[in-house]
Amino acid sequence: MDRRKFVKISAIGSAAIVLDPSKEDKVKLNNHSFTKGNSTVISTWKPGLEANKFAWKILSKNGKSIDAVEAGVRVIESDANNKSVGIGGLPDKNGIVTLDACIMDHNYNCGSVAFLQDIEHPISVARKVMEDTPHVMLCGKGALDFAIEKGFSKTNLLTPEAENDWKKWKELQTEKLPEINHENHDTIGMLAIDEDGDLSGACTTSGWAYKLHGRVGDSPIIGAGLYVDNEIGAACATGLGEAIIKISGSHLVVELMRQGLKPNEACYEAVQRIKKTNKNLKDLQVGFLALNKKGEHAGHSMYAGFNYALKNSKTDKLIDTKYEMEW
Ligand code: GLY
Repeated sequence: MDRRKFVKISAIGSAAIVLDPSKEDKVKLNNHSFTKGNSTVISTWKPGLEANKFAWKILSKNGKSIDAVEAGVRVIESDANNKSVGIGGLPDKNGIVTLDACIMDHNYNCGSVAFLQDIEHPISVARKVMEDTPHVMLCGKGALDFAIEKGFSKTNLLTPEAENDWKKWKELQTEKLPEINHENHDTIGMLAIDEDGDLSGACTTSGWAYKLHGRVGDSPIIGAGLYVDNEIGAACATGLGEAIIKISGSHLVVELMRQGLKPNEACYEAVQRIKKTNKNLKDLQVGFLALNKKGEHAGHSMYAGFNYALKNSKTDKLIDTKYEMEW
């Protein structure tokens, strides 16, 4: 970003904060104010509309954002028709469904699971990691053993439809390596702010369809697939996890907001960083979502077609984001 433009944005941001103590319903917290009665939830892609309904049940009753985001994304994890999250997710190259998820609250508490098999709700296991262990991340068999110990039941995640798709894919492969295409990265990421102005986020996926066995994407990595800083805002990512990890995408978006950028500007800049750090942009879809302390939100993607669901007391709708390129 142009340095002069950045300094200007920062200066405008600071001035707005300094000049804005007037309204009684604004609460000042570490220089970043929030407005009471401003509960909002946003989540990636069209299935987010359904997920938001469940999150809103909690937010609208003065519930906590951490409970809202967990409840919201669980709906999609249970949807067998969704081929990129939880049950029904497309498997890896070997025909095995492996799940990644993470969750983060307003106190920098976070939990994550990666390469988890046979469990319907990785997001809830991630929350248990956050709340019941001194760790942030568990993976593979360790995560599964932990989930069983915590009372989660084993479930077959591979639906007949997903298995059929995998068999068809296998027949078409000459090298048996995963293909990149824009349809197989639609993680659900959800960000929410509650009545107390506290932010939380959740992110869950079955990852890149037909990936190499053992591959982990951005979604369980705090700072890549999700980041929450309650002083500033929250961000999540969807799309090609490898590209998102390389730039710590969600953390970058939050840090850009800390420097004074609006959510749309921060998401735009993160996509520019992806452009700068990847030579081959063909089919490299990524999308970022951001929600700041004031409840302002936006997204931006590399390719056309990314959208996000928004719900608050005034509205319930799907918003198409701005993008860099047509397919
Ligand atoms: N963004 C999801 C993944 O790459 O696994």
